[in-house]
Amino acid sequence: GNTLSMEKQTDLLIIGGGVAGLYAALCARSRGMRVVLVCKRAITGGSTYWAQGGVAAPLAAWDEEAHARDTLTAGRGLSDETVVREFVREAHTHVNALARLGVPFAPNLAREGGHGLARIRQAGGDGTGRAISETLARQVGAAGVVVWEHAFARALLRDDQGRVVGADILPKGGGVWRVRAGSVLLATGGFGRAYPVTTAPREATGDGVALAVNAGAQARDMEFVQFHPTVVIAGSEGLLVTEAARGAGGVLRNAHGHRFMTAYDPHGELAPRDVVARSIHSERRRTGNVTLDLSHLGAAEVRSRFPNVHARLLREGLDLARDPVPVQPAVHYTMGGVRTDAWARTTVPGLYAAGEVASCGLHGANRLASNSLSEGLVFGARAAAAAAEELSIGSGRVEACTGAAGVVPELVRDILARAAGLEREAGHLHAALGELESARPSRALSVQHGDDRAVHEAANLTLIGALVLRGALAREESRGAHLRLDFPGIGEYPYHVVQDGTRAWREP
Ligand code: SIN
Repeated sequence: GNTLSMEKQTDLLIIGGGVAGLYAALCARSRGMRVVLVCKRAITGGSTYWAQGGVAAPLAAWDEEAHARDTLTAGRGLSDETVVREFVREAHTHVNALARLGVPFAPNLAREGGHGLARIRQAGGDGTGRAISETLARQVGAAGVVVWEHAFARALLRDDQGRVVGADILPKGGGVWRVRAGSVLLATGGFGRAYPVTTAPREATGDGVALAVNAGAQARDMEFVQFHPTVVIAGSEGLLVTEAARGAGGVLRNAHGHRFMTAYDPHGELAPRDVVARSIHSERRRTGNVTLDLSHLGAAEVRSRFPNVHARLLREGLDLARDPVPVQPAVHYTMGGVRTDAWARTTVPGLYAAGEVASCGLHGANRLASNSLSEGLVFGARAAAAAAEELSIGSGRVEACTGAAGVVPELVRDILARAAGLEREAGHLHAALGELESARPSRALSVQHGDDRAVHEAANLTLIGALVLRGALAREESRGAHLRLDFPGIGEYPYHVVQDGTRAWREP
């Protein structure tokens, strides 16, 4: 039902239970703030939990410049250099804090594509995300954060001045809870599930971007969708084989058995992710299957370094320790999101965003491997610091910012896969936008078909679909993760594509 069944006040309302949300919650508590954290499923869920690669941070002060350069190179001229430099300066402090909180980082470091040296910290081999997620969830409980699991944020609340002052939440047991907050932090992750084949978990339906845009905030660079190069397709699931597997010496071969990566990039298998993804794509088209081979590392080594991937692939009848496994690129991470400044402030007062949901200027056109967990730490902490300045909780009239109804998710996924995959082109993008718009009446998902949450998720996904298509149309160049067949060159001056709910425009 739609009746308000409870009202609650808090200093900071955090939506999302991944690394950014959990870490922000701890930081806010340490500043004496009251915190409510809601997450859509279990707190140990979401993308953080599944992260295999690890946490990238400079090894020490002497590595900051190199880590910044690797990040900027991967970002293809579109990262904000100040943001990148502040990120590398703060990342290792927070990673050390994670270690103190109990994440059992291994002493040896892993290497991944785009990194000039091994600077990825791992815990439990390929189980780093899980170790971080479980540790932070434990700490958040101990720190007195109020956590509501299986609670879905339906709409942000705005006051008369246009400030975000809370949210309406659909709790597990039904009804609607209204939370009034000094400020709201979106930490909802990305929108990989706007595509049919993705490594992103079920939660990743772009809720945060939709909530923000519905509340009048700007989205930015939504066209940059990162494909991970090495994904094993099992039915409709995309099973990630971590980039650390190539960092450990894994090799890619085409259907003729040839190693091809050095023909595309001098860094071979360890080229930046967009390059490897596109190279695999074209080798698959040219020769057929591409495989990733780790067998020369020895079975014991593969099992101990990649226990989770190894076990998961065994369930599909693939033994990563002994055989080459067929891989292909699939949607993995979404660089675009809610536009923020270096302190996680969105363009709407009272509203913050951190982690994958945000476009803070770190990743530019292509995220460097394993920068995302550290991004969540740095900007989660910054969001908490900035939000600590905004503690007054209003009691006046508020408006719930809901958006337009959506179409069935399968249609959004199908449209984006066809028009906004690894390769894009104006004709298809225009047609796709038209198809999405005209489907609204006929293929609407309304309360007759799904429960309240499913209806809101469908609406969110539909808005995401439109934002990705409009962004991809507005970006008339090929840069990083975005490739336009009709604009194959990279533009001379980098620009961002900024959007509100209806228009897209370019900004330097
Ligand atoms: C991976 O393990 O390859 C993923 C790491 C990342 O996406 O940063």
